[in-house]
Amino acid sequence: MNWYDKAIVYQIYPKSFQDTNNDGIGDIQGVIKRLDYIKNLGFNTIWLNPIFVSPQVDNGYDVSNYFAIDPILGDMDDFTEMMTKAHKLGLHIILDLPINHTSDQHPWFKDAISNPNSIFKDYYIWHNQVDGHEPNNWGSFFGGSVWEKNPNDTNEYYFHLFDKRMPDLNWKNPEVQKSVADIAKFWLEKGVDGFRLDAFIHVAKAKLEQDSLIQGEEFPVDDTFYAKRPEVKDYLAGFVRDIKEYKPDAFLFGEASSANALNAADYTRSNENCCDVVVNSGNYGEVYDDSNPDIPSFFRTRKLSLDSLKKTYVTWESVLANISLPTLTWGNHDISRVLDRLNLPFNDDKLTKLLAMMMFLQRGIPVIYYGEEIGMHGLKYQKVSDFDDQRAVDLVNNLEKKSFDDKDILQLLNNQDEMTARGPMQWDSSEYRGFSSKQPWNWGQTDETNVSDEVKDSNSIMMFYKELLNIKKHDCFTNGDYQLLITDPKIYAYLRTTSSCSGIVLANFSDESKKFKLPDNKWKKVLANQAIKITNGVLTLDSWGCCALESKK
Ligand code: GLC
Repeated sequence: MNWYDKAIVYQIYPKSFQDTNNDGIGDIQGVIKRLDYIKNLGFNTIWLNPIFVSPQVDNGYDVSNYFAIDPILGDMDDFTEMMTKAHKLGLHIILDLPINHTSDQHPWFKDAISNPNSIFKDYYIWHNQVDGHEPNNWGSFFGGSVWEKNPNDTNEYYFHLFDKRMPDLNWKNPEVQKSVADIAKFWLEKGVDGFRLDAFIHVAKAKLEQDSLIQGEEFPVDDTFYAKRPEVKDYLAGFVRDIKEYKPDAFLFGEASSANALNAADYTRSNENCCDVVVNSGNYGEVYDDSNPDIPSFFRTRKLSLDSLKKTYVTWESVLANISLPTLTWGNHDISRVLDRLNLPFNDDKLTKLLAMMMFLQRGIPVIYYGEEIGMHGLKYQKVSDFDDQRAVDLVNNLEKKSFDDKDILQLLNNQDEMTARGPMQWDSSEYRGFSSKQPWNWGQTDETNVSDEVKDSNSIMMFYKELLNIKKHDCFTNGDYQLLITDPKIYAYLRTTSSCSGIVLANFSDESKKFKLPDNKWKKVLANQAIKITNGVLTLDSWGCCALESKK
């Protein structure tokens, strides 16, 4: 067993977590200041979104120097201090490593684009124009074409799946594979415990000389040409081998946003030099409102469907059984916060606790986005023009052309846009929520939820999380097999079993109280979001009630 099989991950968006030098931007000293908080809640692993030098076109995912810390966040001394203090507390640190692309300000790209004989030319993907336009019609994830003209050679284009200032690396080139492995080794030497492999499923591209046949858009986003291609594993094999040879227990946590369970199994087979686990961005049991095709799916209104949630986890749990651990998450920095996104029937502590218990006691690695543990909502912005991220700007342009009302666009953005999820951590009730004394770099309306109030309240969401993460460490909830229990359609019930103990988790997703017959009379409650009653082996759950029970063998 590896340490990461027991990982309980806290995701920190460093720019928004804690500002200590009062420039309105979070920093590494801020992470250091809060290590005790994280440890005390029961986490054992921290994933930091990118901290390398970056022009911040995509908040750090556009790296111009992989060997230093971005000065807005601190310096290498801060980093070393953070590593030492985290390790002393028993906390592992994983860095987010963008491997699919660099910034256009990276020296490799600057040389490649300006020097026709550059040894770095083949580090990127180029193609001549075809009939005076882009080499193909493939669409970028951030809108428009994946191709951008080389300003120094108008006959030529370079490839970018994300922003045009983020050129894609050419992973076919073994020098690229080796150079990225060198970056990883540099950080392993500094003590990091693993990496989130950002966008790794995109490193291989299909033959460039072909168009997408998707109709209706000039540049359709068409995953078939640049996601989960068979060559991904070949390209990554050497890189992963290098990392594991250097540090066998380095945790490789692959980001595979569009992966299904079968893909996840394929990427995590232990003998195949890819990832230890993968995280995707769709396991939330969401059903989308597809009534208006003008709204791209990312921004469509969603609702939580218990049926779809059950199907999703039954599939992931069964496909990955005996292969790897699923990741258990309600969200991350790329989508709005769970309490805003799912259009829940109401918002209150009870429901928030139910979502947490149901999700994190399943078999797998909990990955909890900062602020979720206090029931934080996203920022609310006042006007459409407050949103300046690439995806939002693209949406606004498109919907304004189609005469959508600004009020409706604002609502879509406030409910779905990722920037709402990247607001400052709410530490206390002061003007900027204890995050900074200066207006935060990303700021809108927030509610009153905050850590300092919740610490004082033994019934708070935060205190519930603390108990929940402690229970997660019990043998049955860490190591047990997972089995869905067939019961009332409005109850999510599952059993976790090892040879020495069993756990049952029950969550009532309805407004009515529900009864559940326990298998025998040996079950003891370990945590619940309300008082529960067990009479003659029948447990009664109030509306939106949840509980976890254990039985020793
Ligand atoms: C991943 C990150 C996202 C970023 C993209 C490009 O999907 O999670 O935030 O924009 O990769 O690096």
